[in-house]
Amino acid sequence: MIYFVAAVAAIAGFLFGFDEGIIAGALPILQKQFSLTAGLEGFMTASVPLGAFFGAIAASRLADGLGRRRVLMGAAILFTIGTIGAALITAMWMLVLARFCLGLAIGISSMVAPMYIAETAPARNRGLLISIFQLAITIGILSSYLTSLGLLPPMDAAADVLESTDAWRWMFATGLVPAVLLLMGMMVVPESPRWLVKRGQPDEARAALARVRAGSPESAGVDGEIQDIRAAIAEEKSQGGWGDLFKPIIRPALVVGMGLFLLQQLSGINAVIYYAPAIFKAAGFDTEVEQIEATVIIGLVNVLTTVLAMWLVDRIGRRPLLLLGFAGTAVAMAILALGVVVPTGDGAAPEAVMAPNVLLGAVIMYIFFFAISIGPLPWVMMSEVFPLNVRAVGMSMAAMANWGFNFLVVFLFPVLMAGIGANTFWIFSVVCALGVVFTLIRVPETKGVSLEQIEHHIHAGKPLRELGK
Ligand code: BGC
Repeated sequence: MIYFVAAVAAIAGFLFGFDEGIIAGALPILQKQFSLTAGLEGFMTASVPLGAFFGAIAASRLADGLGRRRVLMGAAILFTIGTIGAALITAMWMLVLARFCLGLAIGISSMVAPMYIAETAPARNRGLLISIFQLAITIGILSSYLTSLGLLPPMDAAADVLESTDAWRWMFATGLVPAVLLLMGMMVVPESPRWLVKRGQPDEARAALARVRAGSPESAGVDGEIQDIRAAIAEEKSQGGWGDLFKPIIRPALVVGMGLFLLQQLSGINAVIYYAPAIFKAAGFDTEVEQIEATVIIGLVNVLTTVLAMWLVDRIGRRPLLLLGFAGTAVAMAILALGVVVPTGDGAAPEAVMAPNVLLGAVIMYIFFFAISIGPLPWVMMSEVFPLNVRAVGMSMAAMANWGFNFLVVFLFPVLMAGIGANTFWIFSVVCALGVVFTLIRVPETKGVSLEQIEHHIHAGKPLRELGK
């Protein structure tokens, strides 16, 4: 049952990735069928992270009031409404609304699904089960790219086919399958036992726990876990609020938690994830099919490297991986900046000065160095650096930084490309280089240090950076 629980919650991760990535395939067609200015293109695309920003703000309160299960069911309904809406729209503003709705669902589920997994999973494989959520995001992105490739009219079709095809509606509509699966799955699984204890419903909690552990409600194992949950909740009474995050001893953790997400987003990742076909077009891939094929390669490298990262993170450690990731992405972005230029002259489109395959190589290099470190590590570290009493608010704040900067990059990318062209990649390259400096002076090594040691270290007033020394 516990793997079933994780699988159901991981569908939420899959939807996160799918609804992020599907716009990449739909955009080239939408551009032909609707008159999109760079600003409108950016806003419509960025309405997903914008919705997610508000979803993330609302999520923890909703999950405490209504329960994890009901909130995830609500998110599944929002996914369903947003998906149907996006497939049926007749004007751009409707697509903005539909995608905002999808964004809300993503923001809510990307906080509540890992929470639900963490609260129902046995301690011994909790880390693995949470990583599955992360992996599910990248698999969702890859699936959206494959869906786009499958639905795109064939390359030898007449050029004006793109002007009339409904393929983009089917691209959005495909998201209905995982959305309905999530809804059905959430109807079957039990509520989080931890939430039930917190709400003063011990009998229901016992029954729920017995179901996920496939044991009897009276068994010693279930009994022991309920006691542990009670003890942990009693300790939580001294829960800190938002204001506590700015206390001098906590602030360094906040800087690391939010700073890593700022750098993750301003590294340009979602310019690549949402606009890959447009980047490949600038890099010299002429047809839509070729552009989406190159995009699929990016999605595949993203998934495979995430698996590698899951294996490396507790072996190599956080700091060396981050240094490697920021340095590698800085170089890759610099190659893109050098390889794509904008000819002078009004409205001139970017042109490739390096061979398309060399530039494809640079994007592959970028995504490899991203997925090996800058992708997963901010999520890992945001759950490590905050002391228990401010962990929930600290994580919300970090998640808000993630979505806020995600919105900024996705909104501004088309505008920047139209304005300063491929120089945009220089901005990303410089941010990645700054990531190296930030890691050197601010980021502690948390590998092999227990959460209790981290907690003790912070409360002793020692500099966060000296952790484990
Ligand atoms: C980031 C997302 C990004 C994804 C790509 C995540 O860690 O937070 O913004 O789209 O990685 O795999």
